[in-house]
Amino acid sequence: MAIRIAVIGTGGIAHAHGDAYKKLGDRVEFVACADLDLAKAQKYAEEYGIPANKAYDNCYDMLKENEIDAVSVTTWNSAHAECTIAALNAGCHVFCEKPMAMNAEEAKAMKEAAEKNGKILMLGFVRRHGNDAKSALNLIKEGYMGDIYYAKASYLRRCGFPGGWFGDKSRSGGGPLIDLGVHVIDLARYIMGNPKPVSAYGATFDKLGARSEVALSADDWQSTTETEKPIFDVEDLATAMVRFDNGAVLHVEASFNLNIKTPTTTVEFFGDKAGLSFTPFELHTVVDNKLADIAIQGDTGFHFSNSFAAEAKNFIDAIEGKAELVANAEDGVTLMKILDAIYLSAQTGKSVDIE
Ligand SMILES: NC(=O)c1ccc[n+]([C@@H]2O[C@H](COP(=O)([O-])OP(=O)(O)OC[C@H]3O[C@@H](n4cnc5c(N)ncnc54)[C@H](O)[C@@H]3O)[C@@H](O)[C@H]2O)c1
Repeated sequence: MAIRIAVIGTGGIAHAHGDAYKKLGDRVEFVACADLDLAKAQKYAEEYGIPANKAYDNCYDMLKENEIDAVSVTTWNSAHAECTIAALNAGCHVFCEKPMAMNAEEAKAMKEAAEKNGKILMLGFVRRHGNDAKSALNLIKEGYMGDIYYAKASYLRRCGFPGGWFGDKSRSGGGPLIDLGVHVIDLARYIMGNPKPVSAYGATFDKLGARSEVALSADDWQSTTETEKPIFDVEDLATAMVRFDNGAVLHVEASFNLNIKTPTTTVEFFGDKAGLSFTPFELHTVVDNKLADIAIQGDTGFHFSNSFAAEAKNFIDAIEGKAELVANAEDGVTLMKILDAIYLSAQTGKSVDIE
């Protein structure tokens, strides 16, 4: 029987979810959707073959009036906890977009709701599903890297504020750290074997603001939501060091706006046998007492739609008991703890311990 799917928050990323589910053919059936903006929900319903009377302006009526097995939560960040918990309590499995929530406290409540209801809660850490991540894990398993003791994660935009609610701290929880940094911090932690974070030291800046007067970089993500007036009360740059219980350290940097020449989204790992960079995907090592850079052939890239397809498939496979989740609620909570610690450290100027 097809898994009956519903979507809460039918803006931009909801389409990546919808298109990914579509690729699963008759394993899924779109049954309903909801958005605070009913017109958006209706348009989405039309696009994905959902009956017009199954487009709602709130998730509560949608969950009450329909038989739904699984829900994608693709709202702005401040609604993730509320909508996820409502869906779990209504007996649905949930695929929640990153970041899991506004903070670790909300994230823990979501994890508890999943456990209480015996339902799956998957986190939208799509970078875990890239070919680069898979190849990196294989290289590590085959022993090419040795012990990884340092990593770097960068998601730096030169002029890439996504607009709308992304600049409104009450709905986003923060700026590029919680929006972009979350992707590469999680990716780095995943490749390093999900070590437990123990402390963080960070700094945030808001020197450039929204930079709305400057022409945007064409490829960067834009929210589909308009705000009544422009809001930008979040950081425009964050940088931090995160220490893990195995002694390894991760340096992270994320910006919406920065006076940098070349924007970058990448991670690098440094082991005692070799280093590994993702862009380009290369090992850096020593061969015959000479420095050597080894380029790995084949598809070792991150492709947006293929990775969303792999992510949605993992969700449906897990619901059907055919696979373990690649990114589970615990991974989401851990990430929120790291982000909370970095933001607190940026405020206090001191290193913050992570429980
Ligand atoms: N994985 C990725 O690569 C990726 C990329 C972009 C965005 N995202 C995440 O996806 C989420 C949505 O981002 P977006 O760019 O699609 O935003 P968006 O502004 O385009 O859409 C968000 C939608 O959620 C709706 N909404 C908000 N609260 C709601 C509620 N309580 N009930 C129903 N609908 C509600 C809004 O009306 C809006 O239509 C964010 O959490 C963002 O971080 C992930």
